[in-house]
Amino acid sequence: MENPFVFGEPVLGEHFINREKELKKLKNYLENQRNVIIYSPRRYGKTSLVRRALAELNELKAEYCCLFIDCYAVISERELAKKLSEQVLMHYPEKEFFEAVKRLFHGLSPKLTIKSIPEVQVEVDYNYEDDWHESFDLPKRLAEDKEMPVIVVFDEFQELGRFKNLLKVLRATFQNHQCVSYVFIGSRRHMMEWIFQSQESPFYNFGAHITLKEIPKPEFPGYIRYAFEESGILFDEKAIEEMLKLTKCHPHFTQRVCFELWYTGRRNGCVKKGDPERVLKEVISDLEDSFISVWDSLSPNQRKALLGIAKDGRDLFSGNFLRENDFKSPASVQSALRKLIERDIVSRSVKQYNVSDVFMEYWLKFRFLS
Ligand SMILES: Nc1ncnc2c1ncn2[C@@H]1O[C@H](COP(=O)(O)OP(=O)(O)OP(=O)(O)O)[C@@H](O)[C@H]1O
Ligand SMILES: [Mg+2]
Repeated sequence: MENPFVFGEPVLGEHFINREKELKKLKNYLENQRNVIIYSPRRYGKTSLVRRALAELNELKAEYCCLFIDCYAVISERELAKKLSEQVLMHYPEKEFFEAVKRLFHGLSPKLTIKSIPEVQVEVDYNYEDDWHESFDLPKRLAEDKEMPVIVVFDEFQELGRFKNLLKVLRATFQNHQCVSYVFIGSRRHMMEWIFQSQESPFYNFGAHITLKEIPKPEFPGYIRYAFEESGILFDEKAIEEMLKLTKCHPHFTQRVCFELWYTGRRNGCVKKGDPERVLKEVISDLEDSFISVWDSLSPNQRKALLGIAKDGRDLFSGNFLRENDFKSPASVQSALRKLIERDIVSRSVKQYNVSDVFMEYWLKFRFLS
């Protein structure tokens, strides 16, 4: 029997829980051809949400051409142009590729490689060094050619911020694309804030914002109980409560702990109180090497700040926090914090700072604070 829980990759179909409000908002924006910026810390379900929205928009019939670019995999501007071109061409049947290239590339003749095994894939390259710039205009040309609105998703968009001038070129091109909605997904808050909220950035105010939070607590128990019951496992109500308290309803961490608990349930026929904590400790022990390598890379002040946040992430500049965590001044907390945030080890919510990785927070507590 297959484990019904999924972690570490976008969730689709029956594995996707809730997000009703965000889905509705996102689909409304896209139906009205607005650009959207989606931010959350790592593994809150951004990619899953966007994929779900695109699937729902095209559920009855294909009404939108959707392009999806993973910017983590982009190593140069030219590479981005290639990926965009390839995604555009995939909206045509193989026998129309050459005709489509003639129409879309306006006089350019990029190099085209078509692979048919195991499925049709197309590779685009450029004959002249500067030709690739023109590919950034392709979403608009696709919309005109197909007479259909186009949605272009840039996942992990903040990664493009490292290429000098690229954001400027993209913005100048995209702002003329009337029939195209752009969705920018990002997980590095300070980079996303800089790109979309700082006045010096070319993408300042370029779209509506959606911030993803945890999945609301009442949504989980029904889904979890049902998934376990389908496998003939009884998940005690108190144990569900215990687990959600431990995982803080974080989508990825909850799925990960459920994934492991499912094996306990298969062995014992049920999951009872105490099982979630035991399983959590096992998961943390499996992940310990990665936490140690992060820990080893931190300066003494960064370590102190991280431990202080694992204990209590409110009032980081109070006399109490400085005393308890052995800091000489608020400025030294500030500079440690800046580095931790830059590296996404710590994230900020409205009321407090948090260790971004819930499992790492437990590791810090078990290892240094208990
Ligand atoms: N709506 C959801 N329902 C159930 N599980 C979810 C949902 N959203 C996210 N998850 C869980 O979180 C994991 C990560 O989801 P996803 O890859 O969509 O997040 P992300 O925010 O795009 O992550 P990353 O920051 O790594 O790009 C999934 O594998 C799944 O375990
Ligand atoms: Mg993602």
